[in-house]
Amino acid sequence: MKIDLSFTPTELDELELRDRNVIVIDVLRSSTTIAVALKNGAREIIPVESIENAVKISGSLFGDVTLRGGERNGKMIQGFNLGNSPSEYSEATVKGKSIIFCTTNGSVAMYKSRFARNLAVASFVNLTRVVEFMRGISSDFLIVCAGRANTLSSFSLEDSICAGMIVRKLAEDKSLNVELTDSSLAAQALHKAYGRSILKMMRKSEHGRYLTEIGFGEDVRLCAEIDTVPVLPVLTGNVIKLRKEETPAIESDQAAKSKLTA
Ligand code: MLT
Repeated sequence: MKIDLSFTPTELDELELRDRNVIVIDVLRSSTTIAVALKNGAREIIPVESIENAVKISGSLFGDVTLRGGERNGKMIQGFNLGNSPSEYSEATVKGKSIIFCTTNGSVAMYKSRFARNLAVASFVNLTRVVEFMRGISSDFLIVCAGRANTLSSFSLEDSICAGMIVRKLAEDKSLNVELTDSSLAAQALHKAYGRSILKMMRKSEHGRYLTEIGFGEDVRLCAEIDTVPVLPVLTGNVIKLRKEETPAIESDQAAKSKLTA
């Protein structure tokens, strides 16, 4: 099982992704938002790469069951129903809805990966579900970090460390005979260096600092929690839905703990 990794999707050719197994990560905040929205009953998420496409598609869908969600520079796009703060995607708001989703990096990376054979959306909040999904397929995977298009390097520390945590968990399983590329080895080393406090790392990252500055510090905290939203968003065709439970739900320690303290 070979695990390769792209730190930024800019160099990805969407046709090269055809028939590959792909994991897309955009921790702050698209992947987290998508997990929360689907857990809260959203029917589907349709990732698009531009605002124009979002408006075009939602025009052709029925208004009352379609919402437009997303951001530019972290803030809700004018004329949309929702921004990209996971807390906006409550059950009352999203249950039964189709959500046209347009963000700066996350939805673009997901859209570019639409020809993948298997595609799952990963974040810290659903990390174990994603690891189990990959373990179940136990074939070659490409992990795509959504990165930060509007920066020089477009490298995202939090996406890379989330990828590194996934790589470490799979590499620890000797039965999988995992082979790592230089980029997945590098991500694993980053997680080793920064993984002790995910929240501290996220608050230091460029996008974490920016989101905090514009008033979304609570989103940074929520996106740093491990396994608090144990669902598996998978992309089929152009649509992201919840994968039906194939195996008994993997109840993480965190979820079990939060049950005890509830
Ligand atoms: C992205 O897609 O780049 C992020 O999700 C942006 C954000 O939510 O601030």
